[in-house]
Parts: sequence; structure tokens; C-alpha cells
Amino acid sequence: MAQLWGGRFTKETDQLVYNFNASISFDQKFYRQDIRGSIAHATMLGETGIITKEESQAIVDGLNGILSDVESGKLEISSKYEDIHSFVEATLIDRIGDTGKKLHTGRSRNDQVALDMRLYTRDEIENIKEELKTLMTTLHSLMKDNLDTYMPGFTHLQKAQPVTFAHHVGAYMEMFKRDFDRMCDIYDRMNYCPLGAGALAGTTYPLDRKLTAELLDFYGPTLNSMDSVSDRDYIIELLSALSTIAMHLARFSEEIIIWNSNEYQFVELDDAYSTGSSIMPQKKNPDIAELVRGKTGRVYGALVSILTTMKGIPLAYNKDMQEDKELTFDAIDTVKGCIALFNGMISTMKLNKENMKSSAMNGFTNATDAADYLVKNGVPFRDAHGIIGRLVLYCIDNNKAIDELTLDEFKEISPVFNDDIYDAISLETCVGKRNTIGAPGPEAMKQVIAINEEFLSNI
Ligand code: ARG
Repeated sequence: MAQLWGGRFTKETDQLVYNFNASISFDQKFYRQDIRGSIAHATMLGETGIITKEESQAIVDGLNGILSDVESGKLEISSKYEDIHSFVEATLIDRIGDTGKKLHTGRSRNDQVALDMRLYTRDEIENIKEELKTLMTTLHSLMKDNLDTYMPGFTHLQKAQPVTFAHHVGAYMEMFKRDFDRMCDIYDRMNYCPLGAGALAGTTYPLDRKLTAELLDFYGPTLNSMDSVSDRDYIIELLSALSTIAMHLARFSEEIIIWNSNEYQFVELDDAYSTGSSIMPQKKNPDIAELVRGKTGRVYGALVSILTTMKGIPLAYNKDMQEDKELTFDAIDTVKGCIALFNGMISTMKLNKENMKSSAMNGFTNATDAADYLVKNGVPFRDAHGIIGRLVLYCIDNNKAIDELTLDEFKEISPVFNDDIYDAISLETCVGKRNTIGAPGPEAMKQVIAINEEFLSNI
């Protein structure tokens, strides 16, 4: 047991209590951020004359030494300390003597941990943005390469209207663009420095909070010391945004699992991204897509957990807030891993373009265009809808696609049909003529691709 307090206690902490209370097993994950925050604090203490410049320098040097020794493996973070803050401070005192005891002047672990968690989260937001950028770059090239890769678009998982693979992937591109923007928004809202809030009520030392904020690349100091030590909104926002990313990845994974199934065969996952069965030799399973889909549960779990933890906590700091860490770390690592794995999976999968196309041609995906043909020839839409309904029924009874009917068969159902009907309902027309912005036609898609190109080059 090694803790920073104990003066007012007459008994040792019970071992079980100590273990229950300690956080070193997980908060050692932000040792870098803890040391970085302490270096900024010590620098400010020296600049303001709260400690001497020499003392400040000795502390900064000592902290840099600890950082490089932990990085190189020379110094092991010992779990005999209560938390990472105690470990760093005790090691500093051990190395530089009494001067090290001045580091914590004008600071509490409450503002220290608030700072560490913010620094950690902020760094991870940048890492998540990088992963998303890589994924979006893959989606962007899939879009550029597949402007005329026809496939059915679905509603209710029933074939609806033809689209292209570029258009389908483009839908996810929009989702991940919003996910990326959400990361930037969270960053902007959270990027204020809580250091100097003290335990809850600031301090009487003439701290220069603007300076520490600047040294740590924050936009400025936070404006209420009680809020500063109690705020975990940014974690909730991050976990919500991560849940949304996980949900998007899960939906996309679900589609890939369907497309990769024996029945669809729209895509074939690469061997490197598939797994086999221990008993059925013929199997090649989409485990990665399933795992990405499945891991959504634990990310949502983290969000619900922190929301629940925070809901009954009176101001200001309470130990409940220590619970913000493990699940947040897990959710961040999980989502980063999922994005990277998903990216590898879709950039190596093979598209069976012929299967996609023939699936788009069967299943009456051009029925709406056949109705539009009648409308353009003067039939009110509601009547046209009824006529095409009967036409589809006729096709089902005779086991034919709409474009396989003879002109006589068409005319039997409505005399308005002429031989230009074949061109009007071809796949090329159904997709190619849909060129309002956002639609799957190649002209519309090229405009969107140009916008995405610009987006990717600016992030
Ligand atoms: N391990 C604690 C946490 O994560 C650090 C802050 C401790 N502060 C206190 N007053 N006990 O929240």
C-alpha cells in the first residue's frame, strides 16, 4: 500500500478497501498525460514565483526522466501505488528529494485527474479521426471505381430499385463524414483546461491558469472550478459518438455478411479476412464482420454505464467518477480496432459484379420506371401504378422479367406501351437517368465524389 494521504488516520486501510479503491491498474494508461500535465503545472509554478525557477526546473527534469524511463521500460509502473498520480509523485520525490514535494502545490487530484482524462480523450479523438480518414479514403476509391456496378437497392430487404455499388457505399461515406465531424465538434467543446480548479474551489495561490492552458494546447481555462472537477459531459459525448460509429460499422457489416452469403454472392471476402469451421470443411465464415457487429454491444454498454454513474452525483467531485475510465478506454480501443479491421476487410474483398447486376435485373426493380413511362405518356400516376401492378403479376405467373415481355404482351395490358418501353426500363436508364444531386446516376455521383475529394483533402 502506498498512498499520498494518511496523516489524519490512526489505522492502516483494510487491504480489501485499498484494492477496491485503487485505480492504478487502469489509470496507468494515461501516465504520459499525467506527466505532461505535471510538467505544465510545475512550469507555471516557477513562472509565477510560487516556487523558485530552480525548483521548477528540477521538477520538470525529474518528470521528464520518469517519462523516458517508463517509455524505455527501465521504470515499471508499480501497482503498490493507489493511482498513477501517486506513483509519479512518489517516484519524483524518491529521485529528486524534498523539492519533489512541491509539485502538488495549488493542485488537487481532482483537477489533476480531470485534466489527465481530458488530455487522454483529446489525444484519442485525434487517433479516431485518423482511423476514420483511412476508412473514408477506402470508401472513396470504391465509389470512384464502381459508378456503373449495378446492384439492387433494397427496402424491407426486398429488391426495390436499382442503384450502383458506388451509391450504396456512398451512403456509408456520408455517415462516416458526419462521424468525423462529430469528433471535431466534441474536441472543440471539451478543449478547455480544468487545471487550477483545485479540489473544487480554486486556490489562494496566484496560479496562472491561462499559462497552463496554453502550455497544454487548450483554448483557455475552464470557467467554474466546481464544474471543472465534476464535468464528464465530454466523455458522454464521445461515447455517444463512438456508439454511432459502432452502429454504422455494424449495419455495414450486416450487409457484407448478407452479400457474402451463399445465396447472394455479391462479394467474396478475402481468405485473410475469413475464418474456417472446425467441423465443416466447406465453410468460410465472415467472422470479422460478425465481430465488428457484435462489439457494438460493449460500446453502447459503456455509454449507458457512464450516463447511469453520472446521474445521481451531487457536486463536486465524488469517487463514483473513477468509474469513467475502464469502460471509456475499452470503448475507444474497441472502436479504433473495429474501424481498422473493417477497413482491411472491405479493401480486400472481391466484388462479383455480374451477380450484382443480374440480381438487379431480376425482381422487378424497374417497375417504378415502367410506371413513370406511362405517366410520361399521359397516364395519371395512380392508374399507372395499378397497370404496372397487373403487369408484375402477369410476369410472375409467366416467370418473366418485365423487359422480357413482347410488345404484344405489353400492349395487352395497356395500349399506351410502345417499343421505346425497352429503353425506358433498361438498367442503364433506371440508374443512369437519376441525376439529381444525391441520386445514383453517374453525373450526380461525380458531383458528390468531387465534394468528398475536397473533404478528404481538407482533413
Ligand atoms: N483515481 C481518482 C479518479 O479517478 C483520482 C482522483 C482522486 N480524488 C479523490 N478525491 N479521491 O477519480
